[in-house]
This record gives sequence, C-alpha cells and structure tokens, in this order.
Amino acid sequence: MRPEDTTKTIDAAIQAAVWAPSVHNTQPWSFAVDGEEIALRADSDRKLRVGDITGREQLISCGAALENMRIALRAMGREALVRVLPDPDRPALMATVRLGEPVEPDEHTLMLYGQVERRRTHRAGFTDQPIPDRLLDELAQQAALEGARLTPIRSTAAVRVLAALTEAAQEVQAQATLFTMDVIRWGRAPESGRADGVPAEAYPREPVTTEPAFAQRDYAHGRPWGGEADRLTATSTGLIAVLTTLADSREDWIAAGQALQRVLLHASAHDVRAAFHTQSLEMVHLREFARQELLSGEYPQMIMRLGFTPDEGIGVRRPIDEVREDTGA
Ligand SMILES: Cc1cc2nc3c(=O)[nH]c(=O)nc-3n(C[C@H](O)[C@H](O)[C@H](O)COP(=O)(O)O)c2cc1C
Repeated sequence: MRPEDTTKTIDAAIQAAVWAPSVHNTQPWSFAVDGEEIALRADSDRKLRVGDITGREQLISCGAALENMRIALRAMGREALVRVLPDPDRPALMATVRLGEPVEPDEHTLMLYGQVERRRTHRAGFTDQPIPDRLLDELAQQAALEGARLTPIRSTAAVRVLAALTEAAQEVQAQATLFTMDVIRWGRAPESGRADGVPAEAYPREPVTTEPAFAQRDYAHGRPWGGEADRLTATSTGLIAVLTTLADSREDWIAAGQALQRVLLHASAHDVRAAFHTQSLEMVHLREFARQELLSGEYPQMIMRLGFTPDEGIGVRRPIDEVREDTGA
C-alpha cells in the first residue's frame, strides 16, 4: 500500500470513530497514529465526574468508537487487527488497531459504514409503526457478534418497572448538585459554536410524553432550550430493549460499546433510531435491582427505546485535528 493510501485509510478510520455515540456527547477519546497503527485512548478530562466514577460509560463510548474504526477499515479494504486493553500499565490505552491484510469488503460492512455519520440519537416519541421481528432478530445477532445480548422487553410489567427506575433515577439525580453539574457541563446552548455536548436542537423544548413515560435527561436545566416540537408529534414509546453482558469488567464495557454500535448502525440502515435512558444505570442500587429482578443476573449496559421517527436529528463532533495526538503510541 502506498504511504498516501495508508494515510487516507487511517484518516477515514478516525473520522468514522468520532461519529460514535458517547455519553452526553463527551467524545471521551483521543487517537495517536504510529505508522500503520492507531492507539485509541480514553480522555480522563472528559469522563463524567459523578455519573461515571467507574468509567463504565466512558468505556462503552470508546468501544463504540473502536467498532466504527473496525468497520471503516474493513469497508476500505483492510482487515483490522485489534488488541483491546493491550497494556495493564497504561490503563487509558483502550485498544490498538493495526492495518492488516487487504480484504474484499462485504455488503453488510459497507451498509454499516454507510450509516456511521447518519445514525443519530432520538429524544422524543416514535411513530406507531412496529419493528419487524426479523429485524429484531438481526439486531440481537449484531450484539451477539461482540459478546453482548440485546433483549427486547416484551412484558408490559417489566417495561413499567424500567420506566419507574428511570423516573426514580432522574428525580434523584435532579436533586443532587454534583450529578446536575455533569449534565449542565455537557448541555450545549442553542447555536453554540462548541463541538461537543448535547445540542439544544437535539431534544424538543417541551418533553414529548409517551405511555409509559421514560424520563429524559434535563440538558436545558430550566432554560428555554430545545428544538421546535412540531415535527416530533409521535407519542409511541417504541420497543424497549436492554443491552447486557455476562460479566462487568472493563473488557465487557468495551465489548458492550462495540455491540451497541453494531446494533445502532444496523438499525439505522433500516430507518430505526434509538433513544437512551441510562440514568438508572448510573446508580449502583437501581442498576443492581434491574440486573437481579429483570435481567436474569446479566449486567445492564444500555437501556434504549427503538422505533421509527421522521426526525433526522442533528449531530456535532470535534474536528479530527482536536482528537489526534500523533506522538506515536
Ligand atoms: C453510554 C451512553 C449513555 C447514554 N445515555 C444517554 C441518556 O441517558 N439520554 C440520552 O438522551 N442520550 C444518551 N446517550 C446518547 C448520547 O447523548 C449521544 O450519543 C451523544 O449526544 C451524541 O449524539 P448522537 O448519538 O446523536 O451522535 C448515551 C450514549 C452513550 C454512549
């Protein structure tokens, strides 16, 4: 491969990585390129101070970025040789990704790659259009490829319990100054020039109520922020699904992020979007309750609603030169 082709491929992989979802759009990562290897690091300044003391959500976010890199490399005709958490002495080093053998990209990889910049988080109701069972099976297969499980929650009672846990967590967090400071720090003002944080245009000014209601994060915090809701009149909750892992180590969190991203990209290719409600997973006792009572002992990593919406959403990201530090791995 000519050096300029290598540069192009690596740039495309990093460009894809930054379009991953991350908690509050913290984009808690950086990338260092050394020859044909990219090192993905977690940026500790961008970890939530209270909501994410263990770093679980940060590692899920980095896992999603890692998955985008793998998909981009494969789509560009190179195998990705990945080592996850390769060095115990460098805990911020999430993974190294080395360009491997040339490969012929398969259709599915190209389909996922095509969704990397299109996929968006949704923060309102969905239309009544149900998600076909066949698509749900495919989403579960995507999660399983990375060692996680995506479980659709079919029981009305279980959905109500998850909605109640979300409500309880949201209420408690809203009363806690330190929790609130995390959310305020990452709420982005309307028309702000900031390239991170949750854009005020990415949620409706008046929360859209579904039945049962899944509490949204309060990024506006009493300010008149939020997009016009007239294009967001749908009020279906959508399908609730939980992404779980069998264990709860740092490796599991990165795997959960990779699984999440495959699920979201595959869903996006079929015009299905996800809304997340992860407040209860930031509170040890509520997370443990969900694990024991609803999820057969598996560890919940993400709680989401899935469905159809005409809304396209908006996304902001930091430019590549802000996340690259090419001093060698
Ligand atoms: C671990 C994790 C937890 C998240 N939790 C929530 C949440 O509770 N509420 C929410 O609205 N979005 C949540 N999100 C979505 C992010 O806010 C979103 O990915 C980010 O703002 C970037 O926007 P985009 O996904 O539209 O590109 C979460 C994302 C991740 C990776």
